[in-house]
Amino acid sequence: MSEHETELGHLIQRRLSRRSLLKGLSMMAAGAALPIREAAAAERSSLGFDAVPLTFDTTHHVAPGYRADRLISWGDPVLAKAPAYDYKAQSAARQAGQFGYNNDFTAYLPLEGNVRGLLCVNHEYTDPQLMFPGMDRKNAVDKVTEAQARVEMEAHGHTVIEIVKTRQGWQTRPDGKYNRRITATTPCSVGGPAAGHRRMKTPDDPTGRRVLGTFANCSGGTTPWGTVLTAEENIDFYFINAPAAEKQNHERYGIAKLTLFSWHKFDRRFRLDEAPNEPNRHGWLVEIDPYDPTATPIKRTALGRFAHESGTVTLNHDNRVVVYSGDDKRFEYLYRYVSKHAYDPTKAERNKTLLDDGVLSVAKFHDDGTVEWLPLVHGYGPLTEKNGFADQGDVLIETRRAADLVGATQMDRPEDVGVEENSGRVYVALTNNDQRTTTNAANPRSKNDHGHIVELTVPRRGRGFDHAAKTVSWGLFLLGQDPTNAPRAPQYIAAAAPPSTTLGLLALGASKSKRGVDTLLDDGERRLGKQRGEIGAHFTEDGVLSCPDNFAFDPSGRLWITTDGQDKVGVADSLYATDTSGPGRAKARRFFNAPRGAEVSGPSFTPDGKTLFVCVQHPAQERTSTFDAPSTRWPDFVDGAPPRPSVLAIEKEDGGPVGS
Ligand code: FEO
Ligand code: CA
Ligand code: CA
Ligand code: CA
Repeated sequence: MSEHETELGHLIQRRLSRRSLLKGLSMMAAGAALPIREAAAAERSSLGFDAVPLTFDTTHHVAPGYRADRLISWGDPVLAKAPAYDYKAQSAARQAGQFGYNNDFTAYLPLEGNVRGLLCVNHEYTDPQLMFPGMDRKNAVDKVTEAQARVEMEAHGHTVIEIVKTRQGWQTRPDGKYNRRITATTPCSVGGPAAGHRRMKTPDDPTGRRVLGTFANCSGGTTPWGTVLTAEENIDFYFINAPAAEKQNHERYGIAKLTLFSWHKFDRRFRLDEAPNEPNRHGWLVEIDPYDPTATPIKRTALGRFAHESGTVTLNHDNRVVVYSGDDKRFEYLYRYVSKHAYDPTKAERNKTLLDDGVLSVAKFHDDGTVEWLPLVHGYGPLTEKNGFADQGDVLIETRRAADLVGATQMDRPEDVGVEENSGRVYVALTNNDQRTTTNAANPRSKNDHGHIVELTVPRRGRGFDHAAKTVSWGLFLLGQDPTNAPRAPQYIAAAAPPSTTLGLLALGASKSKRGVDTLLDDGERRLGKQRGEIGAHFTEDGVLSCPDNFAFDPSGRLWITTDGQDKVGVADSLYATDTSGPGRAKARRFFNAPRGAEVSGPSFTPDGKTLFVCVQHPAQERTSTFDAPSTRWPDFVDGAPPRPSVLAIEKEDGGPVGS
């Protein structure tokens, strides 16, 4: 038997009990009818736009009938006195007042409904070989000067900028009174159980409560009380010289395993032999109050320390605050925080501490379609002194090791989490995992190059949903595939994998290509979904998407999905939309493509759904592409000038809701 056949056999054994197997066999007689139903259903999605074709070129593309206007780019002024971007004169002082690099998360916080608001944007990391002349991807860490490193530090973090809708479209207001840059050098404070912990103290901060800066800010979330959570993700690449102190911890987090930044040359806190605890002060969700430019950002340690992709906030039926967050590394976990106290809009002061006191849990996906949430609470199960956890601070600083010990399910790189507020369903992007060899039901493919999306169904309770339930159910929503090799669904499903084929081929032990196995797995998962009364996973409508990353829901409840990795198969990354219920469920359609070398990230909507903000992150980030010879000079296309990561505002030309 091939590896894939063995894997498939195990999967089916685990997921189809004998009873359901018999039930499945009895469905075989009616099998031919399923694709026909799907063919009809494919016509009735709620999406009102034509798909944009696959592209791979120097610019972006949006669906017909839409305009995608550049709103702000790296180096544009954010603060009132900041200079305009000048690629020949960039400095840390200029950058400190300008829009940062590699925009990721966006959120629109209204000042005046849908026409004036604050755009809050993360800046995840820097690509010095595309920002500065004379270096390439391999030698950048050696070649970056101190002045350039300090530009990079100021180009990380977060931007708050006022924007306004005019007759000419959306524009930034560099004189906005809330405008702010938060960077890798902005003083932050620490909240929650790890504040002041002995392992949070460094030579520069004996209190363990005052951290310089936030960086690796990937995606995030917004709270009901009007603050933003920025997620510190890939902090491991910023450090060097791992010492014996904190060895187990640093190894578990991959700290200093691969150093991709030069900052350690110029700032001792990135040299671990001098500051072994510095990494413990990063890898948190950081709360920012965008309506108060003087407010200190607060690292909320109760929500755990790991490579936070995002922090997706929802209110439980009893108004307790729930935050979902994925740990975006291969074989890492999905987490959930539930606050002890309830949100109360009349108690602004108390809401400020809702993220300091609560229970963090980690997900264990069972093959029977349930998710068990395992609390990471000091004293619970193995989380005791005997295993090196003297208090809750230790549990949170070493969240990953705590999650290992309680037996959480290793996932295929959890990226964003989305909560559809009308259905209470929770969507988790598992972007890919090319190193998986042992599958489980929630991560059903070895060498998972294209990722998938899992859907959690949360029980209804009162007028809301019980996101704090100990157990919820789950199913596969969508399986990613190679979009360049995408037979059009539903014919593909009909031709390649009618329901009878899975069991028939399995019974025969027929040899199958990898692609064939993928097809069959998809069908197996769809069958399992049906057993639970769900529709299960589909191929996307006009083909497929690969490597799902960020999510947004529009006001109609449609799920918007960005990708990060389609360039692996030679096409640009994209933004797709799909219904989550009804006949268009899990039938994604491509709406927007990035220029080459970029990923699409941070989609968000105005409350009326008429503007979609989306980020083009790291344009021209390709293996040999540099400042001097970039693969695209998007969006300026000025000879000599580098590409610039940018936020676009997308609107329908007739002014209607985006996607309808
Ligand atoms: Fe920063 Fe997981 O993407
Ligand atoms: Ca991401
Ligand atoms: Ca990325
Ligand atoms: Ca990604």
